Amino acid sequence: MGISKRTHLSKTLLKNTKNPSFSWHFFKHLISSPSSNPSPQSISSITQILASAQMLSEIDELHHLLLHRQPPEASRLSLIALAQSSAKSGLLDKALSQFQSIRTRFPAKPPPIRLYNALLEASVKENRPEFISVLYKDMLADGFSPDTYTFNLLIGFFCELGHLDDARKLFDKMPLKGCRPNEFSFGILARGYCRARLSFQALELLNGMRDFRCSPNQVIYNTLISGFCKEGRIDEAERLLEQMRNDGISPNVVTFNSRISALCSVGEIQEACRVFRDMQKDNGMDLPCPNIVTLNVMLDGFCKGGMLEEAEDLVKSMKKDGVFTEPKSYNIWLAGLVRNGKLLEARLVLEEMVEKGVKPNTYSYNIVIDGLCKEGMISEAKSVMGLMRSNRVIPDTVTYSTLLHGYCSKRKVLDANRLLHDMMRDGCFPNTITCNILLQSLWKEGRILEAEKLLQKMNERGYGLDIVTCNIVIDGLCRRGKLDKAIEIVDGMWHHGSAALGDLGNAFLGLVDDTYSGNKCLPDLVTYSTIINALCKAGRLDEAKKKFIEMMGKKVAPDPVIYNIFIHGFCKHGKISSAFRVLKDMEKSCNPTTRTYNLLIQGLRSKQQIDRIHDLINEMQQKGVCPDIFTYNSLINALCEGGRMREAASLFDEMVQRGVFPNVSSFSLLIKAFFKACDFGAAQETFEIALSVCGQKDALYSLMFNELHNGGRVSEAKELLEISIERSIDIEGFSYGCLIEVLCKEDRLEDAHELLNKMIDNGYILDPASFMAVVDGLGKVGKKREADKLADKMMDMATHREESNHMVAKRRYSEKESSHRQLSEDGVGESNWRSILHRDDGSGLAMKVLKRTQKGWGQGSVLSLQPRKNDFVEDWEDTG
Ligand SMILES: *[C@@H]1O[C@H](CO)[C@@H](O)[C@H](O)[C@H]1NC(C)=O
Repeated sequence: MGISKRTHLSKTLLKNTKNPSFSWHFFKHLISSPSSNPSPQSISSITQILASAQMLSEIDELHHLLLHRQPPEASRLSLIALAQSSAKSGLLDKALSQFQSIRTRFPAKPPPIRLYNALLEASVKENRPEFISVLYKDMLADGFSPDTYTFNLLIGFFCELGHLDDARKLFDKMPLKGCRPNEFSFGILARGYCRARLSFQALELLNGMRDFRCSPNQVIYNTLISGFCKEGRIDEAERLLEQMRNDGISPNVVTFNSRISALCSVGEIQEACRVFRDMQKDNGMDLPCPNIVTLNVMLDGFCKGGMLEEAEDLVKSMKKDGVFTEPKSYNIWLAGLVRNGKLLEARLVLEEMVEKGVKPNTYSYNIVIDGLCKEGMISEAKSVMGLMRSNRVIPDTVTYSTLLHGYCSKRKVLDANRLLHDMMRDGCFPNTITCNILLQSLWKEGRILEAEKLLQKMNERGYGLDIVTCNIVIDGLCRRGKLDKAIEIVDGMWHHGSAALGDLGNAFLGLVDDTYSGNKCLPDLVTYSTIINALCKAGRLDEAKKKFIEMMGKKVAPDPVIYNIFIHGFCKHGKISSAFRVLKDMEKSCNPTTRTYNLLIQGLRSKQQIDRIHDLINEMQQKGVCPDIFTYNSLINALCEGGRMREAASLFDEMVQRGVFPNVSSFSLLIKAFFKACDFGAAQETFEIALSVCGQKDALYSLMFNELHNGGRVSEAKELLEISIERSIDIEGFSYGCLIEVLCKEDRLEDAHELLNKMIDNGYILDPASFMAVVDGLGKVGKKREADKLADKMMDMATHREESNHMVAKRRYSEKESSHRQLSEDGVGESNWRSILHRDDGSGLAMKVLKRTQKGWGQGSVLSLQPRKNDFVEDWEDTG
């Protein structure tokens, strides 16, 4: 076959991609003559066509045909083309077996490096570390040196897994293997370092670039600047910016955007804002102008940082400049409003979007619906869905699932059912996620029978019982105290996947089986976190540790959450030094979080080890873990318990400097401690500071009142109550009844009477019981008329109260009623689910999202090359 004919062939094939079986027959016909050898291109084309049509047995047939062609060299080249395009089409297993056949048939002639690269790339994509090591070793055994491309691929892979040491080893090996790292190698490794919060190592790398005749480019500078910003090392970021300019690379808008975005992501909104303002000002510093990305990032930062006023100003100025037009900007603004509880405003913004012709998309509506559901405003959420429909935006699985979740969490099973019907009427079919929501709510409510039926249906209808489903069931069992059953099921899952749920004892569930579906669902990090948490809670720490070892043995990589469970467990049982040993181990594999430290600090607090708390807070700072309000309140609490109130009070400055604002609890701890120490002056002073700093005045006043009253400072308490009344403070939490009683007892009947009247005149609805002492007292001193008048008011108040109580009672009653109704309609509900489950799942997307979420837990690990050591777990426990 001549050259022109060959290209002709692959073109003809490509033209027929729509008809893969025709292409295949055509191709087979053409190569049926032993003298005509297909070109590598045509083999690539036909492989791609077969792969995208999932015609896998045809690929095997092709493999077979090519394997036996003559001359051998032609066969070899064809096979290489086949394996390479199989790998590129995502058929890694096929590609590997084709590769194997090349190796077996042509042992003396190793395949070209590009085939190795293609296979490695596919293994990286599919997260199959075991193949990577085999391929890599094979490559070396063949005397091949990996090229720069191979190295970059592997370095990137190790970085992705967070195995930076391995990545670095490879990087250092490059020159020894005769290939120079290029700009990409540096960029990839630097990105890995920055992501792992090791920006200083990335900096070293950058500074060493010139030794390899590479010059730092804009990309690597941007990576590092953003890395330093994320670590809170603003000074370093600034310095690099300077260095970048000195290198003759002017920072572009991307540099600035990544700075602002990094600063926002670590909560340094003020600093981000400063950078942003500099850009806006153009004060001869030759800075790039903010573009729409900058504006969106800044807006998002303001919203997430709770700086709603700034956000609003920015929106206004964007509107003025005519750049507030993208759905993306609107969605950020919507999410910001919702996040900050401005649900009404969010609804208005939705309407504004429609008015201005910026079509809100499904996501826009979903933001608002989600916000409303989270606030428990389900009917509002439902009406937004109505709005959505009337604007011809079709609710998707997320919309329905959100709303469904809302109903389920309010135990409105009836409405949930109705919604399921609407969902199907709209042609949007429930998927595993939807079913899992229902399952969780049934399970939580203890409607186990229904839950089991749902499980059974899910299985019958081929909704894969996925790991989420299994985890819901395991969590349910743990909550129900059936911990041992849960553990048994997890053990079973390793052998039988979700079929292990059959062990629940329900006959139907015995049918549950995923062994044939190819992707058995195995216990993951969530599964282990669930049972380990339950074991720790039950005080079965040894068993929890065993499970942890088992988990590591199964190559399920731990995350901070699971370490925190142990730390919590140890601290709760007073085993502080064990908890600290967990911290040490944790540092080897993942970064301790603020919560980690807070748990330890709690533990130390219970042992009054104040100095160690200080040390720990310093350590946090050094490691770049930000202390939060929990951290400081624990310290304040510890200091107060130790009688060191002055020290506690002096912490406020430090807190504010570190961006942690003292809240009501911080002040109440201190105020209570001062009262306990009878230092009323200091308590009063703290109270006044608190009033000027925190928002929750009602809580502060009631705390102060109650402390004064309990401390026997009756006149001061009375005075404070009067001030509170004038300021319309909510006195629900005040023990005013006791005060009135005390006044009466102390022969200050007039004062008590006056106080009562003042409260009534100011419209407070009081506890009628608080009137008794005064009515009695007035009667005793012969002021019959006044006593009667007050008794009338008391009756008034009682009816008033009763009415509102009545309303509560009424609401309770109707709830009960509706739950009865729900019960009676449960039969219907069940059949609804059944009918739904008899339909086919139309949505692959949600499944994909779910898969991705699961993947995020990352079960694969290159550590399979080197068995993990588990013995360290033994050291956690105190031996002495
Ligand atoms: C104040 O901080 C404490 C943490 O110590 C937290 O539990 C509490 O909910 C916070 N109070 C408010 C009103 O945010």
